[in-house]
Amino acid sequence: MGSDSDLDIMKKSIDILNEFGIQNEVAIISAHRTPKILDTYVKKLKSRGVQVVISGAGGAAALPGVVAALTQIPVIGVPINSSNSINGWDSILSILQMPSGIPVATVALDGAKNAGLLAIRILSLQDMTISKKLEDFIKNMEAAVIAKSKVIKERGFNPAEL
Ligand code: RP5
Repeated sequence: MGSDSDLDIMKKSIDILNEFGIQNEVAIISAHRTPKILDTYVKKLKSRGVQVVISGAGGAAALPGVVAALTQIPVIGVPINSSNSINGWDSILSILQMPSGIPVATVALDGAKNAGLLAIRILSLQDMTISKKLEDFIKNMEAAVIAKSKVIKERGFNPAEL
């Protein structure tokens, strides 16, 4: 992420990766403020065996795009509604509107949990343990929604037949 001010949002990616037992590391590196460190760090990722990068930044959010320009590893971008952002749209568009040839998979504004889950989906293609955990996660989510729909009856509404 571009700054420690992104950490409260980006923690949601870290939390879900930890929940799945996926090894991860966290870096604060800025495309604008520390470009040389970024260049060195990103160019080493592939040889270190890193498989996915989740990159969050706000405002003139160059970080995910520059990371994607420097490595072949898939990059997931998290636009952050940061203090220097006008209203979040600058962050979204900076990360979303990449030039053809350099993809960044952009999630929703502040959507760090989904960024983690997208990384998990990518990793699950090659790892049966992660794949099984993902299956359980999705089943639990389904069960939670079904449980919520019971509330409809309790509150006196007519539940639809599902
Ligand atoms: C971006 O500027 C960072 O990713 C952060 O979202 C935003 C504000 O950074 P700070 O001024 O809080 O360090 O580059």
